[in-house]
Amino acid sequence: MKTAIIFGASGGIGHQFVEYCLVHYEHVFACTRQLQSFQTIERKGMGKLHLMQLDPSSETELQLFSEYLMGREFNIQLLINACGLLHNGSKGISPEKKIEDFNANSFEEIIKANALITPLIAKHLLSHLNKGAKNLNSTGVFASLSARVGSIGDNYLGGWYSYRASKAALNQIIKTLSIEASRRFKHCSVIAIHPGTTDTNLSEPFQANVPAEKLFTPEFAINKMMAVIEKVGLVDSGKFYAWDGQEIEW
Ligand SMILES: NC(=O)c1ccc[n+]([C@@H]2O[C@H](COP(=O)([O-])OP(=O)(O)OC[C@H]3O[C@@H](n4cnc5c(N)ncnc54)[C@H](OP(=O)(O)O)[C@@H]3O)[C@@H](O)[C@H]2O)c1
Repeated sequence: MKTAIIFGASGGIGHQFVEYCLVHYEHVFACTRQLQSFQTIERKGMGKLHLMQLDPSSETELQLFSEYLMGREFNIQLLINACGLLHNGSKGISPEKKIEDFNANSFEEIIKANALITPLIAKHLLSHLNKGAKNLNSTGVFASLSARVGSIGDNYLGGWYSYRASKAALNQIIKTLSIEASRRFKHCSVIAIHPGTTDTNLSEPFQANVPAEKLFTPEFAINKMMAVIEKVGLVDSGKFYAWDGQEIEW
């Protein structure tokens, strides 16, 4: 029962991962804080959709999900965290243009959405990924959506302190987790992936200067990222990929 689990499933990117996986996996767990966003999901595939109302920043809820999976026969091959936060519309959180715009409360919210959720998911669910592996070289993939602006080496423009810092923290967690996985979860690869600028609520206020050919539809971005994810082997664990398969420096 080849299975995928997607967190942040109501988001522009998360939702499209669910649609992709419904075509290519037998079971898809779409984990979201907002079930109502699934009333309009297009059911193109034959996969069975399991809707889970779950707040991934809650350890209690993740623990319950883990217990649910424990006694069941799902062959979990893919675990994706597509949660993230850059702004919250007109409610006060927006990326800083200068240091005077930095705000402690906004920073905490952004860290929570971008950096906290991945290690919590790993803590409770990584042990389920590819756990029945019989082939020594087989790998399940844990992919977390990061952003190129989280790369410290690639930072030439400045600005966006909180979002950059939160993704840099996420990247460090992914790298560290990949090292532990190579010792303790030997059939799992752990990667970060940048989707490219994709037309979702998150990027919407910042699209004005993006050339049309560099603004991806969610369908395009997910097809590209899944082509990368499907090629990931154990030797690729601990890498930070762009949507087109190029490696990004941490
Ligand atoms: N769009 C882009 O151009 C772009 C570029 C680079 C990187 N990314 C990254 O790609 C990922 C997906 O972004 P997107 O464009 O799909 O954004 P989005 O449409 O705004 O979706 C983000 C989703 O994250 C979840 N989320 C937000 N805040 C959360 C919180 N505090 N706790 C738990 N979940 C929270 C929500 O899902 P639920 O309510 O379903 O839980 C939300 O729908 C993010 O990590 C983002 O940083 C996007």
